[in-house]
Amino acid sequence: MRNVAIVTTGGDAPGINAALRAVVIPLIRRKVKVWGILEGYEGLIHGLFIHIESGMFSGLLPVGGTVLRSSRSAAFRTRQGRKKAFEQLAKRDIDTLVVVGGNGSLFGACVFAGEFPIKVIGIPKTIDNDVAGTDYSIGFDTALNNAVEAIDKIRESATSHNRVFFVEVMGRDAGHIALLSGIVTGSEVICIPETRSKMDMLEKSVRAHLGKNKSPMIVVVAEGDDAGHAMDIARRMKKRIRRFNPGVSVLGYIQRGGVPTVFDRYLGTAMGSKAADCVLKRKSGLLVTYNKARIGVAPLKGVKKGKRPIDRELLKLAHRLGQVV
Ligand code: F6P
Repeated sequence: MRNVAIVTTGGDAPGINAALRAVVIPLIRRKVKVWGILEGYEGLIHGLFIHIESGMFSGLLPVGGTVLRSSRSAAFRTRQGRKKAFEQLAKRDIDTLVVVGGNGSLFGACVFAGEFPIKVIGIPKTIDNDVAGTDYSIGFDTALNNAVEAIDKIRESATSHNRVFFVEVMGRDAGHIALLSGIVTGSEVICIPETRSKMDMLEKSVRAHLGKNKSPMIVVVAEGDDAGHAMDIARRMKKRIRRFNPGVSVLGYIQRGGVPTVFDRYLGTAMGSKAADCVLKRKSGLLVTYNKARIGVAPLKGVKKGKRPIDRELLKLAHRLGQVV
């Protein structure tokens, strides 16, 4: 009997459970023994394996997070840590590891597969949507919807009080959530790490909104923006503009939680099923992708090139609508 393991690593993302279910069902049907690794790469190194039985992941499609739990592992970044991880897999005669991870974890998986005789298949998940080689990663759509819902609510206050609000969204060092949420909420300014945020231009915009025809204004700030966090940027504006009293909201982890959207459930399901297909065909070194509305695969080593760049068409769209990015 073949042994295959699956692990979820890095920050959780809504839709992971759908992917787990879709990997496991076809494999169990084909009599593959599936091992779930608890708590990410840390659990892999420390041997936290469970045997996945049929039906164990049922009822989880509407549940966010990851039932296998996750971690960020410093040990897996070392050769020694990866050696221990391989020993745990070898001990159980596991020939393939399916990694549901973001940029860092998939990079680690790629290095791991180059060092040891283990097949690796990657499924991209990250609310930041910055995995290179795929237009969408699991979790981005739900996080985006969460951010948009919150920004729409904040706009009600901004409108009622003709006030300027700085809203910080997640994205570590990527501006995908900020750019798209900013566009669809009609936010006046969007600060993302991929473009230089110009404080003079921001000051001009704020002054215009505070001026004669006072109007509400939302500035969406990606947490990794070059000008700093929303709080820092608001403080800098306060120093420049007398009697300026902006509202500041940091959306934080609520973006990462909740019921996955239809798209994330679909993406998790379709990507999971594709990964199972790759496992059954004894493939290795592949990343499951979603490009041009189609599920496919790409070489996993593509993640080594860095993160997914910002969509230039979206930038143009924002500019055409008079939004400052
Ligand atoms: O990578 C997803 C993400 O949510 C980023 O947007 C954020 O910067 C980071 O994870 C937070 O990391 P942690 O969960 O370790 O605090």
